[in-house]
Amino acid sequence: MRFGTLTNDVAIDLGTDNTRIYYKGTIIDEPSVIAYDTYDGTIVALGKEAEEMMGRCPDAITVVKPLSKGVITDFDLACRMINGFLNKVIGGVLKPRVMISVPCGITDVERRAVCDAVKASEIRDVYLIEAPIAGAIGANCDVSLARGMMLVDIGGGKCNIAAISLGQTVIGRSVKIGGGDFTNALIDYVMEKHDMLIGEQTAEKIKKEVGCAFQRDNNDSILIGGYNTKTRKPEKILIYSEETREAFSGLTEKIAAQIRSALDEMPTELLGDIMEDGILLIGGGAMLYGLAKKLRIELGVKVFLAENADLCVARGAGSVTDNMDKMSENTYVFTKC
Ligand SMILES: Nc1ncnc2c1ncn2[C@@H]1O[C@H](COP(=O)(O)OP(=O)(O)OP(=O)(O)O)[C@@H](O)[C@H]1O
Ligand SMILES: [Mg+2]
Repeated sequence: MRFGTLTNDVAIDLGTDNTRIYYKGTIIDEPSVIAYDTYDGTIVALGKEAEEMMGRCPDAITVVKPLSKGVITDFDLACRMINGFLNKVIGGVLKPRVMISVPCGITDVERRAVCDAVKASEIRDVYLIEAPIAGAIGANCDVSLARGMMLVDIGGGKCNIAAISLGQTVIGRSVKIGGGDFTNALIDYVMEKHDMLIGEQTAEKIKKEVGCAFQRDNNDSILIGGYNTKTRKPEKILIYSEETREAFSGLTEKIAAQIRSALDEMPTELLGDIMEDGILLIGGGAMLYGLAKKLRIELGVKVFLAENADLCVARGAGSVTDNMDKMSENTYVFTKC
């Protein structure tokens, strides 16, 4: 990716699972987690450090994810988390401008909350950019063309399905299915099939190491530990790729159905462009092995996974930030709030 002049401005991709902050050509990636003192409210830890405390801390410390399904659910903690990350990344920089991505298809109140959460920090101005537009730019697509492009951003909490043309979202919807639902589906599957209680971190490991939406070449397996609820003893078992495919099939079909229904709504000209060029997948959830292939078969349309799919939104928002002044006559890509 070619970046313009590196400014003091900052871009933020505020996600359900991860917050990515772009500053001067570099992206800092932190879990969207904050830990605070339960009694006096002071912040104890942020990001990776706070995530490590999840499920392991005493009552005196509360660990929270301030976003759920792509939207802010705890405004005060979201403000403090954003402020903490900004201080960490750009501490000392006087009042930068901040570009922040928002999912498409969210309400005005939810957009306002994102804006206000950033404004609570010492910054100059806040600009909003729709995540699919930023993601397309981050995947090196030219969003200014009069040509329909379809992008599906599968994050941790939600799935954004968008058709873009001339720098704007023509059709955009947010579906409440994300990588977290795949993780939960594995937890439920292992309980149902193996009477085994496993934690979220174990399920994440299975998903990333042997998980698949389309058959892997080898039916790989992973040895995991859990608690057998029948024998009431800890146990180790092998989980196979094919089992994960079974656990995920309902979710992949739901995503395919949502994309199909977005395609049904598409104006004919745009639909023709998308049928020719295919659909681009971005977001960490899209990195599930074989998901692009599975969707291609379900939909009968070419589906591609972007390179470094989880970083596309931050990369694109960062690129727009660095070129913001040159783009000021072309402001359709972002809006000031
Ligand atoms: N290799 C992988 N295989 C499967 N899933 C993956 C992989 N890498 C990351 N993920 C999943 O991606 C999800 C996080 O994606 P991402 O960071 O794009 O979400 P987010 O931007 O925080 O959330 P959202 O955009 O929904 O608000 C998690 O559920 C994680 O388990
Ligand atoms: Mg995201």
